[in-house]
Amino acid sequence: MEYPEILRNAVELKAAGWKPQDLKKASAAITERYKNNIGNGNSLVVSDIDSVVYSIVRMPATFSAIRRSLEWASERTDEINKVRSVLDVGAGTGAAAWTMLGMLDRINEIVCLEREESMLTLGKALMSSCPELEKKTEWLRQDINTFSSEKKYDLVTASYMLNELTPSDREKAVKSLWEKSSKMLVLIEPGTPAGFSHIKMAREILLSCGAHIAAPCPHEEKCRMDKDDWCHFTVRIQRSRLHKMLKSADVPYEDEKFSYAVFIREGVADKCSRILRHPYIEKSKITLELCGTEDNQTAVITKKQGVLFKAAKKSKCGDSIVI
Ligand SMILES: C[S@@+](CC[C@H](N)C(=O)[O-])C[C@H]1O[C@@H](n2cnc3c(N)ncnc32)[C@H](O)[C@@H]1O
Repeated sequence: MEYPEILRNAVELKAAGWKPQDLKKASAAITERYKNNIGNGNSLVVSDIDSVVYSIVRMPATFSAIRRSLEWASERTDEINKVRSVLDVGAGTGAAAWTMLGMLDRINEIVCLEREESMLTLGKALMSSCPELEKKTEWLRQDINTFSSEKKYDLVTASYMLNELTPSDREKAVKSLWEKSSKMLVLIEPGTPAGFSHIKMAREILLSCGAHIAAPCPHEEKCRMDKDDWCHFTVRIQRSRLHKMLKSADVPYEDEKFSYAVFIREGVADKCSRILRHPYIEKSKITLELCGTEDNQTAVITKKQGVLFKAAKKSKCGDSIVI
């Protein structure tokens, strides 16, 4: 699913209310704040202009990472087709809710929980451009650290949120997000060593609570990623004119790196391997770095392997493959 045009237009309309040089200044200040203050529970996007900048610079990337994670998970489980209610925690300007646009025939309720007034207000305003999404969505101004509700949601999402919490709040949040989800929990973090460490921590905690993993891991043993390495994937996003201007970028696209895990209540039966790096394609062989059910391996697939060779040739980092 592409980034919705109505959302892009709604963001541009909001941006038009600010001077380009002010947006650029705010963008640089947010980047600085994220560099220096991440992981201590502080508010990082704090004003109306910050939120507008967030929606220009980050929302297309976070939307695409959430969308891609759901697609990869749905290759191994059909739980997403059973989702009727969604809770998005640390919703920001509503990226996760927008990824539900193509599923509104079966989704009846989306709750966006967000701590910052400016993010929530902008998220609501952007959504008013899409009445079919707006009418199914409720915005709650709440802090996940103090949010108490017995209610469960089929799907719970938290994208790029855990890294903003303190380490002890993060662990508590992971457990509470799992308790609030009746079918699926999707966690997404930046594709950095720190972001991956949060996903790995959540994986350890939730597997010990009886959760299963739909993606990316094809096994539920201890993570085999080397100590100095981190499991992450990439999604390419076309930059808007505004995005290019704010980031002083020359290239018309950016590659968003993210780490993620999709947890479910029932185990999956299929046996596949996850492609961990960009496939190395030569004329008559393709080399794949794989995380498999039993071990991690470097697989060399030759032309003689016909169907498998064709599948490998089409594959990308992050895809699953049966070998
Ligand atoms: C980087 S933004 C991600 C927004 C959105 N999930 C996305 O993927 O675009 C992180 C969001 O989490 C929110 N947040 C951080 N700590 C929170 C908390 N304790 N409770 C609720 N929201 C929180 C922030 O206000 C911010 O809007």
